[in-house]
Amino acid sequence: CGITACVADGDVVDELLTGLANLEYRGYDSSGIAVPRGDDDITVLKRAGEIDALRDAVAETTLAANIGIGHTRWSTHGAPTDANAHPHTDCTGAVSVVHNGIIENHEALRDELRERGHRFTSDTDTEVIPHLIEEGLSDGLATDEAFRRAVDRLEGSFAVVLLAAGETSLYATRRGSPLVLGLGEDRQFLASDVPSFLEFTDRVVHLEDGDVVEVDRDGYAVTDSDGAHVTREPTTVDWQPEDAERDGYEHYMLKEINEQPKALDRTIRGRIQDDGSVSLSSFPLGAFADVSDVQFVACGTSHHAALYAREHLVEQGVPAYAFRAGEYATTPAPIGENTLVVAVTQSGETADTLQSVRHAREAGARTLAVTNVVGSTAARECDDALFIRAGPEIGVAATKTFSSQVAALSLLGERIVEDVTGSPSEGHAERAAAFRRLPTDVQRVLEESPVDRLADEYRGCDAYFFIGRGVGHPVALEGALKFKEITYEHAEGFGSAQLKHGPLALVTEDTPVVAVFDGRHQGKALANVEEVRARGAPVIAIGGEGSREVRELADEFLPVPDTHPDATGVLANVQLQLVSYHVADLLGRAIDKPRNLAKSVTVE
Ligand code: G6P
Repeated sequence: CGITACVADGDVVDELLTGLANLEYRGYDSSGIAVPRGDDDITVLKRAGEIDALRDAVAETTLAANIGIGHTRWSTHGAPTDANAHPHTDCTGAVSVVHNGIIENHEALRDELRERGHRFTSDTDTEVIPHLIEEGLSDGLATDEAFRRAVDRLEGSFAVVLLAAGETSLYATRRGSPLVLGLGEDRQFLASDVPSFLEFTDRVVHLEDGDVVEVDRDGYAVTDSDGAHVTREPTTVDWQPEDAERDGYEHYMLKEINEQPKALDRTIRGRIQDDGSVSLSSFPLGAFADVSDVQFVACGTSHHAALYAREHLVEQGVPAYAFRAGEYATTPAPIGENTLVVAVTQSGETADTLQSVRHAREAGARTLAVTNVVGSTAARECDDALFIRAGPEIGVAATKTFSSQVAALSLLGERIVEDVTGSPSEGHAERAAAFRRLPTDVQRVLEESPVDRLADEYRGCDAYFFIGRGVGHPVALEGALKFKEITYEHAEGFGSAQLKHGPLALVTEDTPVVAVFDGRHQGKALANVEEVRARGAPVIAIGGEGSREVRELADEFLPVPDTHPDATGVLANVQLQLVSYHVADLLGRAIDKPRNLAKSVTVE
């Protein structure tokens, strides 16, 4: 879900709608805004569906106000209906809130409030909050006190912003869900993510868990959960507003696919020296000397980047494991005295990943976040952070951040190998050179890819299988994930070796098999392709342009520049991104905002 709020000298309705549109990637099955009407009342407008439905509803009114809150929702409690959309109000209509996260004790609070005569109009957990605040106000508390007392009753993880009738300030708090403050010249913003207000200001304040902030048009004041004043200094984010715009591309996803050379260049710049050695300012030589094993925790695409990074560590003799954070959070792996837990998370806000980090910290592990978002919860909660510098990613399906994660993790992996084993990895200079060439090589793939023709030929099949060995395996998983996310077609990824142990039963003439070749294990990988060809499946192979055998064996061949296997995977993945994009485009799918999915899943 996405929160946006603004308080200004002039009208804020446009800012709220812009802020919501900018956050639509966080969830978008319904949206709404609330602004005051006179001193005693609040107008709430909310609509199921995309932000345009809300925009149309606003256009039919004469709404204007210099303070307001907004929300775009991704349902967790209750269906995506007008009634369940945020903001939610109390019985008097003078209190309204927007909320992200989950109130775990909402049923108990709802029963209690009902007994005291409160009436509820939605199925959401959120609605208990305005009613609790209403009680505080009717007990004679000041707005900030009523807000604080209500928040004290909540269990779970949340970010909440309150708009109360007759108030010139917004009140907000966070506990486990993201919330940032944006400081403009004559207007202040609150949002769950920086892109919400990036065209208005790049000065931000990252709030800490437990902070309560009061924001008016002139400034802000922060207190901790006990009410004591705390200082939270503003910082400037180095994202440009145009980074978060579509720039003439039909979809953010296509723009972000095409941004990969630039993103990779930023990831790598200054971090690989001319002699191929790695230079990470926060992690000098020896920084990981005492690490015994590495546990990656991540979800979705980030998990595939973690699996990719794990290959190199294991190959070089460093014990490394890549866990799905959703499972690690409930059944964590044993943590040794010198275990390093690396949270890989684009947003830095994925609840399962954060929960895994918290567990690891409690168990005494050293933690490191590899993330795209400076100031994110993961970056702040982990002992250290390595930023992937990919720039904001808006398309729900992660693209450029996968490439940048792989590159950043590759550098991190090299440093770990060197520290743990006492010498650089075998062939490290060639590998480093290949990563340095990645921006140029990716650019070539983008310019020469024949994928659009292929997409037309193979769309509409029964199912699509993706296979690979080595780093081709995580790339196959990522290819299948991307394909199912945005085309809604059935796609599965497997390690090539797994094929014979079940999935082969599904292979027919109508199930294209996409095979990723990273240049290693060539003999075995080719044999696996023979197995599916024998069942009549069309084979689309991706590999180095010089690999004649692969080219000859496949029905279709998507070449990538010949390079080190660890870089080949990234290039192959770019071809797969294009395959998914073009098939989804031909099928007319909602590419940037696929149904039922959210970019950042901030609930467990
Ligand atoms: C969601 C998104 C995926 C993303 C995953 C992890 O499932 O739809 O695209 O890979 O979350 O997100 P993170 O921000 O932790 O990388």
